[in-house]
Parts: sequence; C-alpha cells; structure tokens
Amino acid sequence: MLINFICNGERKQLDVEPDMRALDVLRDVLGLTGTKEGCGRGECGACTIIFNGKAVNSCLLYAPKLDGSEVSTIEGIKGPDGGLDPIQKAFLDEGAVQCGFCTPGMIMSTKALLDKNHKPSEEEIEEALSGNICRCTGYNKIVKAVKKAAENE
Ligand code: FES
Ligand code: FES
Repeated sequence: MLINFICNGERKQLDVEPDMRALDVLRDVLGLTGTKEGCGRGECGACTIIFNGKAVNSCLLYAPKLDGSEVSTIEGIKGPDGGLDPIQKAFLDEGAVQCGFCTPGMIMSTKALLDKNHKPSEEEIEEALSGNICRCTGYNKIVKAVKKAAENE
C-alpha cells in the first residue's frame, strides 16, 4: 500500500507491505539506521522514535500506521546551529554514552519529554525513560544528562 508521511521534516511517499514494521521502513527503506533494533518486541526502547509528538517503539508500529503521520528519528535531531542538539551535548558531557546502542532511543524519549515539559522532575524523567534499557552506563548519568539538557534548552 502507498503511504505518505513526514519524516524528519521531509515528505515521503512509499509503497509498503501491510505487515512491515515502521522500524524496517526507517532502517531498510529510508536508510535511517540510527534507530536501533534490540529486542524487536517492545521491551528495550532501542527503536524509539517520535510519532505524532509521542515517543513510541517503532518495532511495534506497523508501517501503514505511518500514513498521514509526522515522525522524527535521531537523524532529525539537531541544535539550532545545525550541530548537536542540547540533549546530545548533555549526554556527551555527562558520560551518559558508552557503547551507544541505547542512546538514539534514550535521546528520542528525552526529546519527547522535554518538548512537552521543560522542567521535568526526577520522577518524570525516570517515567519518561522507563521503557529504555541501557546495558552499560547505569541510569544515574543518563538522568543527570536529561536534567542538564533541560537546563540548557
Ligand atoms: S527493538 Fe523495539 S523495543 Fe526493543
Ligand atoms: S550505552 Fe550501551 S546500552 Fe546504553
């Protein structure tokens, strides 16, 4: 079926199979491989994108649902000068990135949170990141990075 949607500010028209996942459309059709596949069943958050303003697991979203939507992936996240977004800078500054596999998903969940709530409490940050698993860093540095990003936004 033919779907039309906006991805990182660009209009896309694609012919997709009804049982394709949004994750496969992004990675395999559009080449946006910053969105990662970890578990493939909604448990790790590595595949998080922003879909119509909300952080969602793209491994659980069927491609036809993209029709008429607006999607952001990690490739669409930029600072005002075209460089790193304040969230990306804060993750680097706070040492919240090790292997980096979870990082795109963490950043998309953080972005969805800060777009709606500029001053989240620690509980709100933890809640927003509760679907994102990190095998390496430990969550303290990640939560610190989100706080720092909120201050710098
Ligand atoms: S790959 Fe989608 S939640 Fe793990
Ligand atoms: S930095 Fe390795 S999984 Fe989070």
